[in-house]
Amino acid sequence: MDGLENAVLNDTSDCLFEPTCVGGTTIRNRLALAPMTRQRSSLDGVPTDLNVEYYRQRASAGLLVSEGIYPSPMGKGYLFTPGLHSDAHTAGWRRVTDAVHDAGGTIFGQIMHVGRLSDPLMLDGAQPVAPSAVRPDPTARHYTINCPRPKRPYPEPRALTHAEVLGVIDAFGDCAARARQAGFDGVEIHAASGYLPMQFLSTNTNLRTDEWGGSVPRRTAFLLACVDSMTAATSADFVAVKLSPGWTFHNVFDDDAIATYTHAVRELSKRGIAYLQLGDYGVGWDVYGTLRPLFDGPAMFVAGFSRPSAAAAVQAGHADMIGIGQAYIANPDLAERYRQGWALNRPEVATYYTQGEEGYTDYPVFARSDPGRLQSVDAAPTPISAETTG
Ligand SMILES: Cc1cc2nc3c(=O)[nH]c(=O)nc-3n(C[C@H](O)[C@H](O)[C@H](O)COP(=O)(O)O)c2cc1C
Repeated sequence: MDGLENAVLNDTSDCLFEPTCVGGTTIRNRLALAPMTRQRSSLDGVPTDLNVEYYRQRASAGLLVSEGIYPSPMGKGYLFTPGLHSDAHTAGWRRVTDAVHDAGGTIFGQIMHVGRLSDPLMLDGAQPVAPSAVRPDPTARHYTINCPRPKRPYPEPRALTHAEVLGVIDAFGDCAARARQAGFDGVEIHAASGYLPMQFLSTNTNLRTDEWGGSVPRRTAFLLACVDSMTAATSADFVAVKLSPGWTFHNVFDDDAIATYTHAVRELSKRGIAYLQLGDYGVGWDVYGTLRPLFDGPAMFVAGFSRPSAAAAVQAGHADMIGIGQAYIANPDLAERYRQGWALNRPEVATYYTQGEEGYTDYPVFARSDPGRLQSVDAAPTPISAETTG
């Protein structure tokens, strides 16, 4: 068994355990639970007891970022994902945030409108909406592992009217207000992975000729308007943003991603938001080196980090926090394992999107882990693919 021989405190990782400030809150370490859709809420989007337990188990991360949450009915893309636009949703999330706070943790809610990446089945029979009527590549449908949703091609979306765009922006603001009522410490706009804000940012999905499309500033305007709407409903330090510059996941393309994201990050920097989450998903240019210096505030890096690479990015002063995805699925006590040098449980890809506690809340803490199934505390994560991520 590899891993246990590394069971010594690794001094080079100490920087991961220095507190820092995010938004209005001091967090106790630099590790974040990366946002991850797990499809285990109720069918009408209310968080369940199982969701409360999942987040409570992981509360020793400095910051928890929730799975993607739809801010309005048309933003829903997957069965059993949670929402935050009704009183029942707000009450359900309150139970999650109370459990996390009782355990000493901090939690932001990730607000995710899927735009064109939906299906009438999720939308009471309605056609999905998008910046423009550009149909996703049918092969872009990616949940093929035991997933409770139909494997049929995405339909062509309908272009939002100008008035509807303003309505979606208002819905993001209303959702931020609800997030505060629900006890979240902040919200994170999911502007990555090919969802609605990225559909506005990207040249192949935004063919609009009005004020929401065309030039870089116009394609960026929707994201910035959502930030401003959420900030007006709460405060700038309550709002964060996730970007995946240049990533073509879900069939989005940008003719000049560096130009688009240079402008977007500079504008976000002016707004004094809580943090910027940047994902480098292997796009062939230096996302962190190019964009991090343009943002004057805390930055979280995400995707593909191990304990040594996380510590190196924080130690060098490049990142303030590191988002960890799959290793956090399998290790509820990941922060303690990283701190103590304890070996890691391996994540089971086959249960990422199934139902019930299996592969969700039944991963053991280190003391109860099966020594025969552990891997090194410094192991690199499973590469993410269209099969594993959302
Ligand atoms: C099961 C699963 C679900 C995901 N869902 C989301 C999501 O809802 N929102 C999001 O921003 N990223 C999502 N991601 C991407 C993760 O936040 C993270 O960027 C990715 O897993 C890479 O980090 P890792 O290499 O540490 O796993 C998901 C990833 C996985 C594995």
